[in-house]
Amino acid sequence: MKNYIKVNEWNIIEEGFDPHRNKISESIFSLGNGRMGQRANFEEAYSGETLPGNYVAGVYYPDKTRVGWWKNGYPEYFAKVLNAANWIGIDVKIDGETLDLHTAKVSDFRRVLNMREGYLQRSFTAELPSGKQVKVMAKRFCSIVDDEAGAICYRITPLNFSGNFTITPYIDGDIKNQDANYDEKFWDEVTKEVNSSSAFLTLRTKKTAFEVCTGMQFVVYHNGQPVELKPEPIQNDKYVACQFNVAALQHEEITIFKFAANLSSENYPKDKLLQHCQEVIQKIFKKGFDQMLQEQAQAWIAKWEESDIVIEGDAAAQQAIRFNIFQLNQTYTGEDARLNIGPKGFTGEKYGGTTYWDTEAYCVPFYLATADSQVTRNLLIYRYKHLQKAIENAEKLGFTNGAALYPMVTINGEECHNEWEITFEEIHRNAAIAFAIYNYVRYTGDAAYLNEYGLEVLIGIARFWAQRVNWSEAKQQYVMLGVTGPNEYENNVNNNWYTSTMALWCLEYTLSALALVRNNNIGDYEAVVEKTNFLTIDEPLNWQHILQNMYLPVDEEKGIFLQQEGYLDKENILVKDLKPADRPLNQKWSWDRILRSPFIKQADVLQGLYFLEDRFDLETIRRNFDFYEPRTVHESSLSPCVHAILAAKLGDEERAYQFYLRTSRLDLDDYNNDTEDGCHITSMAGTWMSVVEGFGGMRVRHNQLHFNPFLPTKWHSFSFKIGFRGVLLNIKVSKGGVQLVNQSDKNISVVVYDKVYEIKAKTQILAEHEYVA
Ligand code: BGC
Repeated sequence: MKNYIKVNEWNIIEEGFDPHRNKISESIFSLGNGRMGQRANFEEAYSGETLPGNYVAGVYYPDKTRVGWWKNGYPEYFAKVLNAANWIGIDVKIDGETLDLHTAKVSDFRRVLNMREGYLQRSFTAELPSGKQVKVMAKRFCSIVDDEAGAICYRITPLNFSGNFTITPYIDGDIKNQDANYDEKFWDEVTKEVNSSSAFLTLRTKKTAFEVCTGMQFVVYHNGQPVELKPEPIQNDKYVACQFNVAALQHEEITIFKFAANLSSENYPKDKLLQHCQEVIQKIFKKGFDQMLQEQAQAWIAKWEESDIVIEGDAAAQQAIRFNIFQLNQTYTGEDARLNIGPKGFTGEKYGGTTYWDTEAYCVPFYLATADSQVTRNLLIYRYKHLQKAIENAEKLGFTNGAALYPMVTINGEECHNEWEITFEEIHRNAAIAFAIYNYVRYTGDAAYLNEYGLEVLIGIARFWAQRVNWSEAKQQYVMLGVTGPNEYENNVNNNWYTSTMALWCLEYTLSALALVRNNNIGDYEAVVEKTNFLTIDEPLNWQHILQNMYLPVDEEKGIFLQQEGYLDKENILVKDLKPADRPLNQKWSWDRILRSPFIKQADVLQGLYFLEDRFDLETIRRNFDFYEPRTVHESSLSPCVHAILAAKLGDEERAYQFYLRTSRLDLDDYNNDTEDGCHITSMAGTWMSVVEGFGGMRVRHNQLHFNPFLPTKWHSFSFKIGFRGVLLNIKVSKGGVQLVNQSDKNISVVVYDKVYEIKAKTQILAEHEYVA
């Protein structure tokens, strides 16, 4: 754990330069706009430890898989979003000496991520080996208004000398992914051109042949006055630059405004890519840095209007929750149904920018409540578009008749993961995809989604489950063998309660969706039946039979669901019995020891109780919580939030708060010593869930919002924004009660502590509070 980020409600602040934490800060201070993302690498040269990262959404490379023992059904490659051309680079030489913070003496270093307005600022004084001192201030952002563009303002001032500055704004496409399996470079050059103050470089990915054109244009000011320059164009392999010299007297400031864009062939025909890139560059150059930044600030302030959480009385918690919301909104804007949310977003290479069940299980609630419903709809349509690939994926494993198995890890619908115990067995991901459809329809009321897209996906998923179970003669029931539940510290188990329960839920939900679509529009129903070759009598009958005869492991005596058959045969030891030196288990113990131990990586049975809570009484949830939580090591960042929400539901406010704390500052304080790989973007959505569903007790039942809040004792108050069916609500929980402000023009009725309140447009109510503060 580190503790170097200064607490501030709207800013992430680092003071003092420590090269050892540079890669951590590069992740934390990352910028993104849904289309591109940039780690907080320096503009000027840096010869110390760094992980360069500029990622262009949707542009990936199928890196050939490395496995020791190949198994049939393994994917051939792991698709990864590539590190693309460096667009931020500005090399600075002072009388021939390179400005490099690794070789310079650095003082007054300060890095600030302004979350309210969406920009990164860095300032420092550097003393070069020659003794020359310069002051630098750099500000940059990835625009959410011009979402293919970024802009930089770089100011440099000689402090104790007058000298000659050689400055080189450049685009460098000679880029590597640090995680390349075979140490290959993934880009080939297509075209390049350099003019006096602009340059363009088009690169093509090997194998996938995506093209990305990166362009730049710049303008230079000397003491606030524009300078007429004759920069020298430079072209090298995959590299374009413009170099110029400025003589500056002591204390005179040189300012470079660099405008850049990354355009991909996913959005433009290849033969027009350069032309479009030139147009975007011209447009933003004309706007200028200040106007772009002003538009950026306004757009971010508008986003905060819909998604902010305000915590009074705990500045560290306030900073943390805003950081989580900011990173989620930087990662996914929901404008493009071909894009999704990688567990590290645009902040690092780990997980390759690919899609996991994290999106459906953890991110969907955040986007449902804080953005237009189209945003979540696009996340669902992403999976709809991959349905055929999911059917092919299931076929590879021997399934038939339109059964669909969605991949554990994917970018284009094909499976990329290749550990058999996960690829073939961690099949519960299929249920999360169905659950997200249910969640979306429940939240938005947009049942027509089922007619158009949802039902087809549900049928494919239900067919998979119906084929994945088998009849056990011994038990005279259906069983599901050889699976891995969400707890990846158990593999190849039989009858994992979570997976089987969610499979049954999928069958049930698909049956009700079939009925709903048939009732709503018989034509749509018949079209889906025809398209999927659905056997309207046989398949529902078979599913019903499974629903009525499925084996689910329980322990009657303890009154709990069994994580899997035989779980109670394990040694009866608890997490509190572990020595601190044994933690985290995944780094300290052999895999064999982990598999045989009772320790649970993340919510498993409890994940099911969270999803399907209304089917279980409080005592059942409590017994299972009290049994499983003490055996859970929470070694996935996705774990604490589910526990926080359940603890809150069980009235254990202190524990709910403790679980929340485990993820809220996960990256800011580098809890797990892994932030340098990138931030835990998908678990950030879990932190949001802990506040809204945990402390706020928010649920949607029967087309209505319900709240059951409590106030963590350390806070004076907290408030959060919720968009629900055209209404924007601000819910503030304080010692004085629960205040709900309806900020929109529509009336709404909500339930607070089981009492119904009508809140007219543009009015507010104060609900009595029933918690002990
Ligand atoms: C978790 C998975 C998750 C993945 C990506 C793993 O550590 O066990 O549930 O999907 O990380 O976040």
